[in-house]
Amino acid sequence: MDLKGARVLVTGGSRRVGRAIVEAVAQRQAEVIIHCHSSAEHAHEMARALRSRGVMAEVIQADIAQLNEVDNLINQIGNVDVLVNNASVFPRTPLPELTGATWDTTLNTNLRGPAFLATRLGLQMKENGQGVIINITDCGVQRPYRNYFPYLVSKAGLEMATRALAVELAPEVRVVAIASGTVLPAENSGEELIKLLSAKPLLQKIGEPRNIAQAVLFAIENDFLTGTTITVDGGTSLR
Ligand SMILES: NC(=O)c1ccc[n+]([C@@H]2O[C@H](COP(=O)([O-])OP(=O)(O)OC[C@H]3O[C@@H](n4cnc5c(N)ncnc54)[C@H](OP(=O)(O)O)[C@@H]3O)[C@@H](O)[C@H]2O)c1
Repeated sequence: MDLKGARVLVTGGSRRVGRAIVEAVAQRQAEVIIHCHSSAEHAHEMARALRSRGVMAEVIQADIAQLNEVDNLINQIGNVDVLVNNASVFPRTPLPELTGATWDTTLNTNLRGPAFLATRLGLQMKENGQGVIINITDCGVQRPYRNYFPYLVSKAGLEMATRALAVELAPEVRVVAIASGTVLPAENSGEELIKLLSAKPLLQKIGEPRNIAQAVLFAIENDFLTGTTITVDGGTSLR
């Protein structure tokens, strides 16, 4: 798909990796809808900056863990050409600390919300004759790491949603997952953790948000790609 003039929704688009994705599609002259939950101020500031550069940009706020808010979001935005399911929670959950509440919040935010967005918007795209859905997952799905059990299950579910929806929505709509390695550690990460994370990939470094944004552009623009996962992890899943 040619991104010029395409209407692109990026969930969790106001900060961190989502922000890099919004910047990348905006540089291709797409029209961007920046979704946010708690970071409305960041999102509006970003939209204003983009509009000052001539990019069409709007902001929409919703808690994607709540199905009624997902429905409201869909009713408000109308048609889109591209959905990037980027928003996510990443709760550290050692097994003895697992609760129903953590399970529900993680699965509802990282799997149910994105799956309903993809289904509802995907059906609209199919009716319109074209569309692309990108789901941001995690390389840990291939090689699980400790202490993030519900998160990893949610991302594994999103990879299956990618393949199942690719089958359901073809040939008009393509659905692709991008499995990220560490590209931006959590904001409270100490030096010790950053050292450990940098040692994990074969390439011996943490990636950058732009590495994920580049893969998003590739997946949107490559018309022979669907139902698959692109892993962008510096070789972490081979270790
Ligand atoms: N960072 C990495 O190194 C890394 C590694 C592997 C995979 N990934 C994946 O890449 C994506 C982006 O990573 P990130 O680190 O930038 O993510 P992040 O900072 O943890 O979260 C991205 C956004 O998700 C939104 N969000 C959280 N709960 C929400 C809810 N209930 N409703 C709506 N939005 C909600 C937040 O928006 P607000 O700020 O507006 O509340 C947040 O800014 C995620 O899918 C993540 O799993 C990242």
